[in-house]
Amino acid sequence: MLKDYLLYQSGLSGSESVRHRAFEIRLSRSRTAQTLKRLGLAPAPARPDGSPLAAMTAESEQQYCEWYASRLYSGAGEIVELGCWLGALTNALAAGLSRNRSIPEARRRIQVFDYFQWDEVMEVWVANTPFARRVGVGENYRFLFEECVRDIAPLVVIHEADLRHGEWHGGDIEFLSVDAMKSTEITAGILKTFFGKLIPGSGYVYHQDYVHFYHGWIHVSLYLLRDYLELVYEIPDSTALLFKCKKAIPPEALAFPATAEAMEEDLIEEAFAWNMKLVKPHLRHAVAAAHTMMYVHRDQMPRARELRRRYLAGGYAGSHAFQSMAEFTAWLKPVDWDE
Ligand SMILES: C[S@@+](CC[C@H](N)C(=O)[O-])C[C@H]1O[C@@H](n2cnc3c(N)ncnc32)[C@H](O)[C@@H]1O
Repeated sequence: MLKDYLLYQSGLSGSESVRHRAFEIRLSRSRTAQTLKRLGLAPAPARPDGSPLAAMTAESEQQYCEWYASRLYSGAGEIVELGCWLGALTNALAAGLSRNRSIPEARRRIQVFDYFQWDEVMEVWVANTPFARRVGVGENYRFLFEECVRDIAPLVVIHEADLRHGEWHGGDIEFLSVDAMKSTEITAGILKTFFGKLIPGSGYVYHQDYVHFYHGWIHVSLYLLRDYLELVYEIPDSTALLFKCKKAIPPEALAFPATAEAMEEDLIEEAFAWNMKLVKPHLRHAVAAAHTMMYVHRDQMPRARELRRRYLAGGYAGSHAFQSMAEFTAWLKPVDWDE
């Protein structure tokens, strides 16, 4: 256990590991609280109006965002949240901001971006919550987001926009939460609009979907930006990684293929080989699954099958990422893996 922890810490740059140690201590205390709650020995936390929070992000991520906003955020640049859905991270960031006494009043805000279009997957996530069947597929759900951030409304600036063609006129960015890179096209738009505004040395990118089978374009974009972004922290019990901006990113470094099909195969292979080395062994199954899925996105099924066979034989057969990929490709995007 101690050996694993030291190995894990050795991959972080010294100062970042020290900075994030305080969060780990806080998280381990709250894990104890969660266990007590599960056993019925502690009251469940509630929002001010008592309603539950719908979230696609893990509790540890919400706790991280709250901790970051209260303890690390300096106010030198904006907090920008891409893909706010029903405000789980927005509420967490706001809770942290409210306790942060060292920032100027004008920085006590979160700039959120979303196009607020309800889809069938969202309906699955809100089953058995007060948000179930409140919006039809394809309809606008901004009013639901507004309900979810009612108590923190003065801290939230809403930008309703399709991030494939987003615009940002707000200056430097200190914390960029990215939970909307759901396609190559959106990735191209987000990189172009926001990444050039990250503050060198203190700007962070919080990548929510890195440890996941679906979003291989994130891995490719990080490879292309390897001279500018460095991995500094892995949010425990989640799919999120935190990157820090090492130096200003010039516009020419932010060009990205418009579609998955338009990516050069050599680029994909180099990018995934690099990502395999970037992360610790326990996360490599997700990189392997994203590598495989990239060829499903490109409709290159022989290559996808070959990669899947290789990775499953190489020890990832029981991996959560490959299992989720199998479930997804049986449900939303039917794929015959055995042909
Ligand atoms: C996984 S959800 C975000 C979950 C949220 N961060 C949470 O903590 O529960 C992804 C979000 O990205 C948004 N999104 C997807 N494609 C988008 C696009 N092209 N432009 C803007 N927002 C988009 C969706 O509306 C959704 O709110």
